[in-house]
Amino acid sequence: MPEAALVFTLFNMMDNTRDISKVVRQHLDMDAFFAGDFAVRGEKVAGEAFSGGHAESESDRSVVEGLEAIAKEVCACCRCGIGKSRTHAVPGEGNPNADLVFVGEAPGADEDAQGRPFVGRAGQLLSNMISAMGLRREDVFICNIVKCRPPDNRDPSPDEIVHCLPFLQRQLELIRPRVIVALGAHAARTLLNNNLPIGRLRGRFHDYYFSPEAAPAKLMPTYHPAYLLRNYSPDNRRSVWEDMQKVMAELGLETPKGK
Ligand code: URA
Repeated sequence: MPEAALVFTLFNMMDNTRDISKVVRQHLDMDAFFAGDFAVRGEKVAGEAFSGGHAESESDRSVVEGLEAIAKEVCACCRCGIGKSRTHAVPGEGNPNADLVFVGEAPGADEDAQGRPFVGRAGQLLSNMISAMGLRREDVFICNIVKCRPPDNRDPSPDEIVHCLPFLQRQLELIRPRVIVALGAHAARTLLNNNLPIGRLRGRFHDYYFSPEAAPAKLMPTYHPAYLLRNYSPDNRRSVWEDMQKVMAELGLETPKGK
């Protein structure tokens, strides 16, 4: 990581603690855990096992058009209060042909400012996780349950989720990924329609049904990257990495050696 970016990251991490050596150690651990300790596979290997996102066929083009139409609707939507207070709506982005979709909770301040999902601190950690899996952000699709920022980073309300969920359901039905990773309790509970704690949901695959007719996708709940940043224990990091290794095995992606 370039020095300026490291300093910026360290500064951002300082809001939780004033102990600089702890922050430095956390930062180095994070890099090692999600990337450096593992032989991250090259793009070519990832590309062979993973369906790339190029809209070449007629059906690919119709998926792209469908996703663009949903994004337009999201950006015009003012059905609930947060639609009115947002700077930018954040429909989601990535490979329209992705085998793997990450679903978070709702945009934060950085995402609201840029109109893109997971571009703040939690997003940096998600990017590290994706590259530790031997993939690039553009190989996968990244989106949220709720497409606008709840003020003060509060949890999305049930009413906001109900208004927004159809956008996500339509995105997933168009993309039809093989695996969905639900980041955090809100995403997991909403997609699985239950109220269980994330600690009980994570670590195993559940079925996600696009429609009554279609075969379900496998859904892996895991801890939200923002939770991981706040609770930066080896156990939590190992749990997330184990969840991602199960996802990689399901997709036929090579698991890095040594862990
Ligand atoms: N947290 C989320 O759940 N989604 C984002 O896009 C960013 C942070």
